[in-house]
Amino acid sequence: MTLQSSSTQVTSLEGKVAVVTGGSSGIGNAVCGELIKRGAKIVIGDISDRGHEVAAGYNREAGKKVAAFLYTDVSKYDDNKALFQLADSEFGGVDIAILNAGTCENADSIFTPLDDELEERIFNVNAIGMIKSSKVAILHMAKRGGGSIVCTSSAAGLYSAPALIAYAATKHAVLGYVKSCTFLPEVCNVRCYTSVCPSFVDTKFMDNVKTVDGVPDPFYDFVDKVPTVPMTVIIDGVFRYLGDNSANGETVMAFPIGIEAVKATEWHRSLLTDDSLKAQDIYLKKAIPHYKQQLSRALGRYEKEQKERSIK
Ligand SMILES: NC(=O)c1ccc[n+]([C@@H]2O[C@H](COP(=O)([O-])OP(=O)(O)OC[C@H]3O[C@@H](n4cnc5c(N)ncnc54)[C@H](O)[C@@H]3O)[C@@H](O)[C@H]2O)c1
Repeated sequence: MTLQSSSTQVTSLEGKVAVVTGGSSGIGNAVCGELIKRGAKIVIGDISDRGHEVAAGYNREAGKKVAAFLYTDVSKYDDNKALFQLADSEFGGVDIAILNAGTCENADSIFTPLDDELEERIFNVNAIGMIKSSKVAILHMAKRGGGSIVCTSSAAGLYSAPALIAYAATKHAVLGYVKSCTFLPEVCNVRCYTSVCPSFVDTKFMDNVKTVDGVPDPFYDFVDKVPTVPMTVIIDGVFRYLGDNSANGETVMAFPIGIEAVKATEWHRSLLTDDSLKAQDIYLKKAIPHYKQQLSRALGRYEKEQKERSIK
């Protein structure tokens, strides 16, 4: 699959509803602004209450309710469910999910204390949180008839950097997950599962990790010299392929000079024998009905749980 140029560019999002995790600041906040500019309604989920002010500002400016905020820790299923259910109750459903919440706490982890919580947090937010948000998003979008999900990974999802060792592991995980969402368009019309990977962006994101145990990390003297990615490029990466089925599972990098799609790694030729290719054909025919059945069960479970909760 190769992404095409701007022919698929989405302009108006009038009538659409978007959930944005990590929308209280930085990249998420900029994406929220663009969504509103294009006519979408937004629901921000973040652990930072600043999202309250952000949403209130959009509502004031529009003179009507176009934005809502809910305290959401993406690492918790209950928080993710409440966030997407708020989009249903406030604005009638969810068409777009920008899964962008992230942390770089304990990013340079190799010699930090052997502490379970410290170790797990970055994975629970960046990788597992993204998976949890996406699973809830897919159920809501499937119910509505389709939708688009964009996950923020990082250049650290492809490149290596010892000073970002744990962070890089979480962002590689995001790419692996997104690339494996192969059948979503056929199963439930959820598409554009594109992963936007910015290299360094001028936000407050890394401010707290520039020292470890009070010692400045020399990596950041190097980072200071690396050109940053303008927010306009990030916005292009998020919006260019929204609604484009051919972008499903793709990795879109955001560089200082613009966005670039990364070619997916093919299965090695030694794995693709005549027999395995025949078996693959059979698998591909069975996969869509198989996943449709699983989706139907998942929706049944989710709706039952929602009903039971509303009765209590
Ligand atoms: N800034 C960069 O250089 C850079 C580069 C590549 C990728 N990224 C990625 O971009 C995304 C946004 O980062 P940013 O640069 O805008 O930084 P940021 O710190 O401004 O934004 C991150 C947001 O995520 C929120 N968040 C953190 N943990 C959360 C949780 N458990 N649940 C919900 N929200 C949570 C924060 O409160 C914050 O509002 C992150 O996923 C980050 O990994 C950033």
